[in-house]
Amino acid sequence: MNKFVLPILGFFLVLLSLPLSVGAETPPPVRQDLGLFDAVFNDLDEAGCRACHGGNIGTLHHTLAADEGLTCYSCHNPVLVNQGIFVVGCLECHEQQPGVASVHHLADSALAGDCVDCHGSMVQNRDDGHYVPSYAATMVTPLPSRGTGAEGQGSCRFCHDWGTDFASGEPISTNMETHHETGFYAQPGGCYWCHNPLAEPALAIRACEQCHAPLSIHNIQADTNGDGVITPGGEAPYFGHIGSNEDCLGCHGGAVDPALLSSRNSAIDNPTRHHLLVASKGKKCLDCHQLLLNDDGLFVFKDFRVCSSCHAQGGRR
Ligand code: HEC
Ligand code: HEC
Ligand code: HEC
Ligand code: HEC
Ligand code: HEC
Ligand code: HEC
Ligand code: HEC
Ligand code: HEC
Ligand code: HEC
Ligand code: HEC
Repeated sequence: MNKFVLPILGFFLVLLSLPLSVGAETPPPVRQDLGLFDAVFNDLDEAGCRACHGGNIGTLHHTLAADEGLTCYSCHNPVLVNQGIFVVGCLECHEQQPGVASVHHLADSALAGDCVDCHGSMVQNRDDGHYVPSYAATMVTPLPSRGTGAEGQGSCRFCHDWGTDFASGEPISTNMETHHETGFYAQPGGCYWCHNPLAEPALAIRACEQCHAPLSIHNIQADTNGDGVITPGGEAPYFGHIGSNEDCLGCHGGAVDPALLSSRNSAIDNPTRHHLLVASKGKKCLDCHQLLLNDDGLFVFKDFRVCSSCHAQGGRR
């Protein structure tokens, strides 16, 4: 199968070196260096298709024809060929539902739920058995939209929202538009692919984790200082998800309940006890949570459940 030069990279951790002079504008919208351009592509004409599928479309199809033993006439109409017309346009053969579904999301792999087939390491598939937390919501649990922290921190939309791309001047769509206008919205039962209306509102993010679980989420990051490695907490903010404490707070920085902050209540649960130290003592997430590379070269959190991994036996840290 022919592969194109894609904006999608097949590696989990996307190594992309950017000179810092590029400047770090504050989102939204986010920069568009990684993954696909965050817009809707379901009302394209042939020029739109060719904008991404540059290269040689004829050779692409003819290789396919040879591999699959197709005859010339399975794609070319003999009457038109006699007039010297080989094809009228991409959409003569490829289906798109304008305003509803893009051609890619009507592909068999997409309808079967195999997002990774094309989106690679940016996401995980719903049915691959990956880890999704099951603990109760706390002050650090992200929300999809409407974060409760400063200026809306604590949600995806704090950074990913509509606007004008700084680099290209092209419009960027909302998360609702980019997802709904793939066309899965219209699938029977499709809402459950991304939402769980029965979940308590504070846990709405768990439905998103069907594809955006901690393993993929905490591995989306550009290398901003050009040193060839990604240093969690050691990169410029807003070039990904783990480069800076500001990035952590973008998703996790929801509001702190002032009643908790002022109380000396020993009944406060242990995660909350520690997370209050962010507001009260200016602790950073990575002061306690270390991201280490696992055998697959992916960042995972070092065990943060065992007291002794941070507190010396019998003593304070
Ligand atoms: C934003 C860039 C972009 C645009 C615009 C675009 N494509 Fe694609 N297309 C891709 C990428 C990326 C893939 C995945 C290729 C891969 O997995 O190797 C793809 C895959 C495909 C496939 C293979 C689907 C399968 O079953 O695997 C077809 C067919 C296709 N595109 C047709 C079109 C047509 C027709 C248009 C215009 C309506 C179009 N594309 C517009 C980027 C684009
Ligand atoms: C899978 C579908 C498919 C099959 C099978 C196929 N073609 Fe094509 N062919 C295309 C498409 C699509 C184009 C248009 C390419 C473009 O516009 O860039 C094309 C273009 C052409 C052209 C115009 C020149 C070019 O390459 O753009 C010729 C000539 C041609 N085909 C001949 C053939 C012959 C001969 C066969 C049988 C051996 C054949 N095709 C089989 C899809 C196919
Ligand atoms: C004459 C019919 C025809 C036309 C016109 C046509 N295609 Fe295709 N194309 C096919 C067929 C048949 C396949 C193989 C089945 C499939 O994947 O849908 C295919 C496959 C593809 C693939 C996937 C190739 C792979 O490696 O699996 C891409 C990408 C693609 N077409 C893009 C385009 C673009 C872009 C245009 C317009 C410039 C176009 N096609 C025009 C018939 C056509
Ligand atoms: C056959 C390849 C293919 C498969 C499989 C696929 N996608 Fe896509 N997807 C694309 C391409 C190419 C684009 C950009 C052009 C477009 O929207 O069609 C895209 C765009 C998107 C976007 C908007 C991108 C952005 O940056 O905002 C979302 C959301 C999306 N896909 C979701 C999904 C989901 C969910 C699945 C799995 C259920 C899936 N896709 C499976 C190829 C694919
Ligand atoms: C602190 C800001 C920030 C927050 C909050 C944030 N992201 Fe991102 N995200 C980014 C940046 C920056 C990129 C890299 C964009 C680029 O270069 O294209 C990115 C990239 C992505 C990508 C890779 C695909 C793409 O289009 O770039 C996915 C998937 C993604 N984010 C999902 C999420 C989800 C899900 C949430 C909420 C749980 C979220 N993000 C919250 C900043 C953020
Ligand atoms: C491919 C994933 C996907 C599918 C399928 C999907 N949605 Fe969404 N939806 C999103 C995303 C992403 C957002 C924006 C984040 C958010 O606010 O939850 C959103 C937002 C919404 C919102 C606004 C929520 C708010 O709090 O502002 C509603 C309502 C909604 N979707 C309903 C539906 C319904 C009904 C269906 C089925 C017909 C559906 N969605 C299917 C991904 C999806
Ligand atoms: C069925 C899989 C799936 C689910 C569930 C899902 N997404 Fe996505 N999401 C994708 C794909 C695929 C992309 C495109 C990644 C890329 O650019 O290659 C994406 C991209 C994103 C991005 C990056 C910006 C953009 O548009 O590319 C954000 C933010 C995001 N999703 C938020 C959400 C939220 C919030 C939810 C839950 C309401 C959600 N997603 C549920 C598959 C999913
Ligand atoms: C793009 C959004 C996003 C960003 C940015 C982000 N996270 Fe997360 N993180 C999540 C989501 C979603 C979960 C799962 C939360 C849940 O379901 O309760 C999570 C879970 C975690 C967990 C618990 C993991 C487990 O095993 O259960 C830790 C620890 C964590 N994040 C720390 C961080 C730190 C430290 C940073 C900054 C370096 C960071 N996160 C940046 C979205 C993000
Ligand atoms: C002072 C140390 C400390 C700081 C700072 C800290 N954490 Fe934690 N975090 C912990 C400990 C300890 C646990 C586990 C407690 C337990 O299981 O008893 C935890 C648990 C978590 C969990 C799992 C939630 C749960 O209910 O079990 C997430 C998610 C998380 N932290 C994210 C973050 C994020 C994001 C930040 C920055 C806003 C942060 N943490 C800052 C110590 C810290
Ligand atoms: C991921 C590292 C980490 C883990 C695991 C951890 N702690 Fe802590 N804990 C810290 C740090 C750092 C501090 C803050 C020390 C300081 O004040 O500078 C702290 C502070 C505390 C405090 C004082 C809180 C306050 O309000 O000042 C208590 C009590 C505590 N931890 C108990 C525990 C217990 C019990 C466990 C196991 C169930 C545990 N910790 C696990 C890192 C951790």
